[in-house]
Amino acid sequence: MATIAAENKATVQAKAEPQVQVAAPSRREFLYYIWGASLVMVLGEAAVAFIWFALPRFKEGTFGGIFDFPVNKVPLNNDAPYNEASGRFWVTHYDGKLAILYGICTHLGCLPKWVPNNDRFECPCHGSKFERSGRFIEGPAPRSLDRFPIVVQFSDGTTASTSAEGGAVDISGREVVSIRIDTGRKLTMPGHQLPAEG
Ligand code: FES
Repeated sequence: MATIAAENKATVQAKAEPQVQVAAPSRREFLYYIWGASLVMVLGEAAVAFIWFALPRFKEGTFGGIFDFPVNKVPLNNDAPYNEASGRFWVTHYDGKLAILYGICTHLGCLPKWVPNNDRFECPCHGSKFERSGRFIEGPAPRSLDRFPIVVQFSDGTTASTSAEGGAVDISGREVVSIRIDTGRKLTMPGHQLPAEG
């Protein structure tokens, strides 16, 4: 009697709790899942990269961003270069040309100073020396001073800009009305020469 009751109970339980069987994903399904997850990750990274590059990371007028440099601060031709500490650059006007020099020594990153008595930049750390144009003179620096690109607008409405190699802009005999400096793009010139002037 007790055995029959136990069997009935087992039967009722079996009916009340049907076994759910979950089939393991097939190899093809598994590969689909992996592929889908990879696609989501790639798209996510692409979206992050897009946002990162689309958003301006540097404010105008701060190092790494654009500077609208006041024309009246441009040194007279072959006068001492002007130091703009907030942008880490020197504005140099030599032989009728305008160039913006990155104020960091190309040797190990010290800050070369303009030495009026010697009419050149001199680095206090290991003695590299550079002309007013930024061209290397002597010392351990591996190359001339780097430059930042500029766009110069003249009173006749025309513009001129730094060449892709870093060539200076010829402003001789022309009235400059605006100067835009991009401190987010350093132009490095290999060796101890300067590029052909733009
Ligand atoms: S850091 Fe300028 S010469 Fe070494």
